[in-house]
Amino acid sequence: MLRRMFAFAAIAYLAVSASLAARSQVPGSAPAAEAAAAPAPPARDSSAARPSMPPPGSPGANPPAMRAAMAPPDSFAAERDSLMNDVLEKIAGRENAPAESVFKNIRLLKGVPAGRLPRIMNFGFGRSLGVRCRHCHVEGHWDAEDKPQKQIARDMSEMLHTINTELLPKVKNLKSEHPTVNCTTCHRGAVKPALNL
Ligand code: HEC
Ligand code: HEC
Repeated sequence: MLRRMFAFAAIAYLAVSASLAARSQVPGSAPAAEAAAAPAPPARDSSAARPSMPPPGSPGANPPAMRAAMAPPDSFAAERDSLMNDVLEKIAGRENAPAESVFKNIRLLKGVPAGRLPRIMNFGFGRSLGVRCRHCHVEGHWDAEDKPQKQIARDMSEMLHTINTELLPKVKNLKSEHPTVNCTTCHRGAVKPALNL
């Protein structure tokens, strides 16, 4: 259980900014509750999460200076936004209930407010890998285990948990107090992380 919470923390951590970005454009979201449910990013280490922060789909919500610093959205961003919003519409009114009480097949994101799940899908997973929802799902069959990529994503989250809570803390003399990796650290918008520059 504790392990699971940590795995969630790793994902939620990378998705915090995403939900911040999505607030302004998604009707029915519950910003305060989401913020409360999100683990606070380590105070002196927000730079670690910055690269994954650019909020796709809501450029108008940001001042020009910020916009200039953001990576452009990938080519599937609009499609993902639309599918994310479909799911959010379906669960309207239940955003703050635990994901497992609203969705059918939740193993990894237990305890996460349901309204955050579609945002984790879009910004945490889809954008980090540069893929459509259908890379891991048959569209609309969200609860099914149709594609191996869905379970791989869970296994990757476990791997992150181990890196962030066991391996990285053992590395001495790092500059950050809480050095962190997330999906973007390796994937950087691609399915297959690079081995060469
Ligand atoms: C990299 C793989 C991946 C991508 C891309 C992805 N998902 Fe998921 N999705 C998952 C995993 C893993 C779960 C199960 C989470 C768990 O076990 O708690 C899931 C679960 C879901 C669920 C809950 C279904 C249920 O009833 O149990 C919905 C809804 C969903 N995804 C929608 C989407 C949408 C919409 C997109 C695109 C915006 C998307 N997903 C993109 C991996 C992915
Ligand atoms: C430490 C680096 C690293 C991190 C962090 C990481 N991945 Fe991966 N991921 C990989 C590597 C390496 C592969 C294998 C690519 C290959 O087939 O050669 C991979 C493959 C995948 C695949 C299979 C892609 C396909 O269809 O072939 C999925 C899905 C995936 N990762 C999701 C995630 C998600 C979601 C996260 C964050 C929770 C994540 N990864 C974090 C390194 C990483």
